[in-house]
Amino acid sequence: MKTVRCSIIGFGAIGQGVAEVLLMKREYLESIGLDVRVVAVVDSKGATVNPDGVDLADCLARKREKGTVALEKLTGLEVIKSVEHELVIETTPTNIKTGGAGLQNMLAAFEMGRDVVTSNKGPLAMKYRELVETAKAAGCRFRFEATVGGSMPVINLVNEVLAGNNVRSIKGILNGTCNYILSRMIEEKASYSDILAESMELGIAETDPSYDVEGIDTACKLVILANAIFGLDATYRDVGVTGITKITPEALDMAYKNGHVIKLIGEVSRDRIHVAPRLVPINHPLAVGGTLNVASVDTELAGEITVTGKGAGSIETASAILSDLVAIYRDC
Ligand SMILES: NC(=O)c1ccc[n+]([C@@H]2O[C@H](COP(=O)([O-])OP(=O)(O)OC[C@H]3O[C@@H](n4cnc5c(N)ncnc54)[C@H](OP(=O)(O)O)[C@@H]3O)[C@@H](O)[C@H]2O)c1
Repeated sequence: MKTVRCSIIGFGAIGQGVAEVLLMKREYLESIGLDVRVVAVVDSKGATVNPDGVDLADCLARKREKGTVALEKLTGLEVIKSVEHELVIETTPTNIKTGGAGLQNMLAAFEMGRDVVTSNKGPLAMKYRELVETAKAAGCRFRFEATVGGSMPVINLVNEVLAGNNVRSIKGILNGTCNYILSRMIEEKASYSDILAESMELGIAETDPSYDVEGIDTACKLVILANAIFGLDATYRDVGVTGITKITPEALDMAYKNGHVIKLIGEVSRDRIHVAPRLVPINHPLAVGGTLNVASVDTELAGEITVTGKGAGSIETASAILSDLVAIYRDC
């Protein structure tokens, strides 16, 4: 049995989802020879640390009851630098201006020789090359399937399952909030602002939804795909971005009468990274509704492959983190 000691840095929706999934999957992990032991859990107020493994059920209960998991005044960075472990699971909030705590945490993890699995797209959208090169120089593994499309596999699908194929382009819907708003605007023939308000009430849109509705979130995901799949050295500045804020119910209605829906489509190829509302035929594989994500990969040998799935959600996103963890340690 191989023991994998890990930290969970960031204990919000995704960090807690990871804890729940690790509890659910203990037997499965043992069946493939992995004893995954969480030695530290960190939120913004502090940490719980136990070199023999923290009690994840206790951590989840304490977070629910007290609002924090903290028993010690340690930051993520301090845990990464001082607690012996192999894997840092980085799930702090995304910051696309500075990379935030996530960027510092990931760089520190590599400096300490620790592998990283993350759902935090900010650091990758800003400093992809630096992160990958630092990881490589330190001999560390770095995986980030959950940063694009939540549970929906794209990066590992292309780089592993479709290995050897040249990919011409990837296009799809990579933001569930925008997809929900556009789908509901058609169903209800309602205005953008009315459906945005509904989405906020349901917790589908954030209090400040600009990051989603202006296409910035999709653009960041395209940057990660451009770098991880097309080998580019792109940043957010290389993306042409138009969001959904100016789409009217009339435009959606006219498109619908002509057999189309309007979707916020992100597209990346070697030559172009672009996000904008586009007409999609009603029966086209990209015309998925609700909060779903979808990605169509145009490949040289296999033709077009389309995947769809939940782009967000605590357990769903933790599924991608679990698969990255397994991919790193299963065969070593
Ligand atoms: N939610 C999704 O469905 C989804 C899907 C794919 C990717 N992601 C990405 O996954 C990451 C986590 O998302 P989330 O929804 O779990 O966010 P969240 O609910 O806001 O949780 C963030 C967690 O990080 C903690 N935190 C904040 N600053 C910290 C710091 N400096 N050091 C240590 N911990 C810190 C917060 O502490 P407190 O609890 O004390 O506030 C909280 O526990 C984000 O980067 C997000 O973009 C999310």
